[in-house]
Amino acid sequence: MRLTVIGTGYLGAVHAACMADIGHDVLGVDVDTEKIKALSEGRPPFYEPGLDDVLTSALASGRLRFTTSLREAAAHGEVHFICVGTPQQPGSQAADLRYVDAVVDGLVPYLPVSCLIVGKSTVPVGTTARLAARIERLAPEGVRAEVAWNPEFLREGFAVEDTLRPDRLVAGVTSREADETLRRVYAVMLEAGVPYISTDPNTAELVKVAANSFLATKISFINAMAEVCDAAGADVVTLADALGHDTRIGRRFLNAGLGFGGGCLPKDIRAFVARAQELGVGPAVNFLDEVDEINQHQRTRTAALARHLVGGDLTGRRVAVLGATFKPNSDDVRDSPALAVAAALHRQGADVRVHDPEGAANARRAHPELRCGSDLLEACQGAEIVLHLTEWGEYREVDPVKLARVVREPVLIDGRNALPHDEWRAAGWTVKALGRPA
Ligand code: UGA
Repeated sequence: MRLTVIGTGYLGAVHAACMADIGHDVLGVDVDTEKIKALSEGRPPFYEPGLDDVLTSALASGRLRFTTSLREAAAHGEVHFICVGTPQQPGSQAADLRYVDAVVDGLVPYLPVSCLIVGKSTVPVGTTARLAARIERLAPEGVRAEVAWNPEFLREGFAVEDTLRPDRLVAGVTSREADETLRRVYAVMLEAGVPYISTDPNTAELVKVAANSFLATKISFINAMAEVCDAAGADVVTLADALGHDTRIGRRFLNAGLGFGGGCLPKDIRAFVARAQELGVGPAVNFLDEVDEINQHQRTRTAALARHLVGGDLTGRRVAVLGATFKPNSDDVRDSPALAVAAALHRQGADVRVHDPEGAANARRAHPELRCGSDLLEACQGAEIVLHLTEWGEYREVDPVKLARVVREPVLIDGRNALPHDEWRAAGWTVKALGRPA
């Protein structure tokens, strides 16, 4: 089928490459000329394991092209996927839908024939209905453009795998034709047994924010337990393991530590609260404010722990931070808990050196006041405390004996509960992990 994918960020670039990979004729569209140039040359504009391979083979197959022209997109697609960002509005909790609206405004007047417009971005419930009215106003005479919502559940770091082999597909449609069109787009996956849930657009939009709200709640729940464990001298990792054996609870997303960040979970739960308030049901989701607060508190608590461990005053103290991205296997530093802690320590006078294998350049752009690099030993040289804040695999491979020789004081905070503490202790390190006995 002839598809367009509009917006080539983490979501759109992966969706475009994967749709070409499963046999569609895909045109990727973005306003960013640099991004389009990089993608056309087979270079992903961000770090995502496996994307370069899928992109290269899709380009070589001739089934994937990129453009900056929405007019060209209008002419190409039987189905147009909207994959642009829906960030938090400045000065508000609500989602900013200006990029979604701009796609509709730029695309619809040029549609030569009837087609299906499918939103994938995370949006407040009711957006499909609002866009349907806007599209009807803008469509040329005799052209019918139906709009459907098909939320995306991919995780950064596993984006290709999640797109090609999703846990489920959700289609929010208003007609049988739209449903059939989406089933044809995803035919390969349906044949492979991926569950397909066909519903109305409001429900589809809500599935996405409800899923992210549940995941965020699960993380804040275990982080609240970690704080109780700290006070009671209990171990949150054993607690999570024991809880996780109950299949009704499950072990995943019960990793206690510095909490959640990134471009999705934090802004999605806030936008959900804002939307629920508009709908007059704010109190029903008040608990999400608490989830957000517990999450932010992990950052303050970790910075306070670092201050305490260096003796109460961070002024002039050398601090090494391992990890800048919001999670491993990504170069994304949006709302990164690791960088938030690094910046807080810097504000308190510490001399902070941040290390990240892939995110150092983005980290420097986001926080020019911090020193960020990709040389681990350099970051740790002379450190009086080391904070492990993003659980990159390579940190588990670090030799604590060697690192102890480089730092000034072998003191470690494991903010992700992911390092082999016994080995570090045996190498002479004082180790403090969130929610675990010393
Ligand atoms: C999240 C969802 O997991 C995806 O399903 C969704 O599609 C995506 O948002 C989105 O809305 O686009 P992502 O933001 O890539 O995906 O990252 P996650 O793997 O969910 O991790 C989010 C944050 O939670 C990270 O900072 C991670 O370190 C933290 N986390 C995760 C924990 O602190 N503990 C855990 O047990 C799991």
